[in-house]
Formats: sequence, C-alpha cells, structure tokens
Amino acid sequence: MFLRRVRHPEEHLPIHHPTNLIRDWGGGEGFRLSDALTGVAVFGATGSGKTSGPAKHLAYGYLANGFGGLVLCAKKEERRQWEEWARETGRTPDLIVVDETANWRFNFLDWEAARPGEGGGLTINIVALLDEVAGAIAGTTARHETGSTKFFQDALHHMNTNLVDLPIFAGLPVSLPLMRSIVSSAPLSFAEIESEEWQARSACHAILREADHATLLADPDTRSDFEECRNYWLVEYPALSEKTRSIIALSFSMLARPFITRPLKTIFSTDTNVTPEDAFEGRVILIDLPIQEFRLAGKIAQLAFKYCFQVSLLRRMQPLGGYLRPVFLWADEAQNFVSEFDSEYQAVARSAGGCTVYLTQNRESYKRVLGNDDAVDSLLGNLQCKFFCQNAGDTNQWAAKLLGEHYVSISGTNVSRGERGGQHAGISTHEQRRFFIEPSAFTTLKRGGYANACQVEAIVYNGGKQFQTPNGELLPYKLLTFNQ
Ligand SMILES: Nc1ncnc2c1ncn2[C@@H]1O[C@H](COP(=O)(O)OP(=O)(O)OP(=O)(O)O)[C@@H](O)[C@H]1O
Ligand SMILES: [Mg+2]
Repeated sequence: MFLRRVRHPEEHLPIHHPTNLIRDWGGGEGFRLSDALTGVAVFGATGSGKTSGPAKHLAYGYLANGFGGLVLCAKKEERRQWEEWARETGRTPDLIVVDETANWRFNFLDWEAARPGEGGGLTINIVALLDEVAGAIAGTTARHETGSTKFFQDALHHMNTNLVDLPIFAGLPVSLPLMRSIVSSAPLSFAEIESEEWQARSACHAILREADHATLLADPDTRSDFEECRNYWLVEYPALSEKTRSIIALSFSMLARPFITRPLKTIFSTDTNVTPEDAFEGRVILIDLPIQEFRLAGKIAQLAFKYCFQVSLLRRMQPLGGYLRPVFLWADEAQNFVSEFDSEYQAVARSAGGCTVYLTQNRESYKRVLGNDDAVDSLLGNLQCKFFCQNAGDTNQWAAKLLGEHYVSISGTNVSRGERGGQHAGISTHEQRRFFIEPSAFTTLKRGGYANACQVEAIVYNGGKQFQTPNGELLPYKLLTFNQ
C-alpha cells in the first residue's frame, strides 16, 4: 500500500517549502516541514510504541515527501523495517544499505582529502572526526570533563594532530593503516631515537625523513610547522609518561581498528561509491552495522559516518531562488549515537535542510552519555518537537513541566455554624495551578500490540506551539493516536 499524498490548499507551494504539510493530524493541525527542520525527539519506555508509533508515522511522511537521509542502526531489525517503509512509500530505488557485503563503500579519509578548496583544513577536519568518535565512545565529552579524562583527551588530540600532519608533510596520502604504523613505531625513549635498530625498522622514522626532505625547500611557515611536528615525535612523545603514552596509543588503536580490519575494512578503507552528499540528492543511506551485532566496531563506524554527514550538511549551499531538499539524520536508540556536537549541529542544520530524529527511552539515557543535565538540555532544546509515549520515571516529571501548567477552578463545599447555632452551607471556588498533563498520565498511554487494538498513543509538544481542541480551546500539546 502506498502512502498517498493528500492534496492540500498549499499544494501549489514550491517543493520543499517550509510550510509544506508532512503529516496531517486533522482539525487543521499537522506536522510541517518547518517542524521537521527544528528537530524531533521521541521518548518512551521499552515496548511503548516509539518505533511503530511516532517513528513510523514520521518516517512515512519524510519518505513520501522525497527527503534524503542517513539512518543509524542499533538493532538488527531496523534494516528490514526501513526496507518496508521505503517500499510502502515508493522509495525503494533510493535506499542504499551499507552493510558487511561492502557493495557500498565510503573511504572517509579520501573523501575529506579530495574536498576542493580547503587544503589547510585537512588536518583539522580529520582530527575533529577522530576527536568526535573518541569522545562519543568514551561516553563523555571533552568540555565537561575535568581532571584526568580531560588530560588524556587533550593528549590524544595532540597526538592525532601530529599523526595526521606527518604524512601530509611527507606528501603521502593520509590513511589509517599508515597512521597506525606511525604510532606503533614511534620512539619510546631518547636512547631509541639514536638506535640504528629502531631507525631501520621504524615507519615513524622513515616518514620523518621523507617529510624532512619534502619540506626542506618549502616556505618558512610550512618548514617550521614540520619542525613542530618532528619535535612532537622526537622530543615530546618519548618524554610522555608510560601511562599517558600507552593510553593514547591504545585509544587511537581502538578508533582505527574497525576501519582497517575485517569485516569493515573494505567498506571504509578501500574506494568510495557512496558519500553523505548522496543524501542531498534524495538517497536514504542506511548503515546496517547494528550495534546489537557489531558492537563497538559498529558504533565507531556509524559515528564516523554520522560526523561526516553532519559536517557535509553544514557545508551545504542554499540554491538560488529555491529550497534545499530536506535530509534526515535518524537514530532509534539514539543514546548510542549522541554527542555534544549534535546540539551545535542541529542549531545550524535547520537552514541547511537538516532534520534530526532521535528516539530513546528517557532523559537519563542521554545523561549517561552526555554527562550532565546541561548537555542534555542543550541537545533537547535543539530538538524542538517532542513525542512522549508511555513511560515511567523522571522523564514524566520533566515532560509535565515542559507542557506547562494552567489554573483550574477547584470547588468545594463548606458548612459553618452560625452565631445562633444554625448551620450555613456554601460552595466556594478557588483557583489552583495544575499541570496540563500530570506526570502519572504518561504511565497509562496506549503501548500498541493486540491488547491496545494495535494503537499507540503519544503526547506531542512542539516548542510551545498551541494546538486547538475540538471545542476551540488552545493547548500546548496534542494527544495523537497511531495505528501500528
Ligand atoms: N505492526 C504491529 N502490530 C501489532 N503489534 C505491534 C506491531 N509492531 C509492534 N507491535 C507491538 O507493539 C508494542 C510496541 O512496539 P514498538 O517496537 O513500537 O515499541 P518501542 O517503544 O519502539 O520498543 P523498543 O524500546 O523495544 O524499541 C510491542 O509490544 C510490539 O510487540
Ligand atoms: Mg523501538
């Protein structure tokens, strides 16, 4: 069954106009492209209907309206589910599944190096990618860290910078195997630097010599930058404490390993036949390396793809006199993929056509990864439209506060004894502040399945937008029911 686009009065609007209706919620309400562009967060307990309710509802809308996108996968079943969603919206030809077969390949270092116009930015961009993946797998982010974790992250960042720079000075293509061989053959002591045995077998030594020759006649700035880099490998690195050195070398090795070993090596370290920019042309790229199956390797690979997608979207140019094709960044079980960069990204992505959809169980699942409430608030502040499915715990309190309060009239009767012994009865009313939706109300929303006639309920909040009820009242939320 195809999801037919309903014709609306705005049908004459140009394609991808922000006011285009993506999903009709009846009564003049609906979800528009502008709502997709300001980001979506879905919450709900395990089995509350997040995926088969709001996620499916939005995915159909996004696909039927020609969005491109990137889908990150935590679970094995996500591929089959997107294949079905693509089929039902006539988008099968646009679906690109990156999986173990390596029919689709993305060498992100070559992709970054081949980008025209920004020679000097190469090291910065590759190091930013490595930092991003390292930060996300450490489950922390640099900015909020104090003490030793921050120290090791800085030390890793510094090493990565010199690691990417060295082959560039030598005129060699930057690749992860080459970077790994530099780290694993870097000098561990000053004595080793002098040793002929080390010099004979060390890739680090050989590339330093090549870079020395290559920059001998270069302009003074390049030469002095090279000397800084050489100083790192021959003075700073051997002087690091054993502990620091082994931690940063191990961290680099963990990052690089999935890309240069089977099964992911062919996908990420050979040639390229899919890039994030394909999403801008309307492809839907699904990374079927689910964390459930590929564990850390799947996570690292998807984080790298995600980061490349995000930076390429931020570089996207607005066409003259038209609207960019919207592209979604989609993650179910998004706690596996969030990073601090996401809030920065989504804040700017809107004007480049970026539509983020993140699903997770509760606020705590983001907090465990991002480290504190400020970082969670920053992320969720940039995902304006929120769907709350059935849930328990602190997320319900937070959701109730977010939806806000109103005054309700509370009536009561009172009986008092008069001066002459008679009784006076009266009705009194007073105003009391109450949540629009009490936290407990989220616990009883329909969770789908046959017990609920395959219906999922969710309360949608859209950044303070008012929804009209059938009796004309305006409320900052709407209760939606989805058929699974
Ligand atoms: N098409 C369907 N028809 C009937 N029941 C369904 C259908 N799809 C899912 N269900 C059931 O509905 C409930 C909600 O499922 P769903 O997968 O959408 O929840 P979820 O919130 O995404 O869960 P999880 O946290 O495990 O991802 C589950 O009990 C599931 O078995
Ligand atoms: Mg789910």
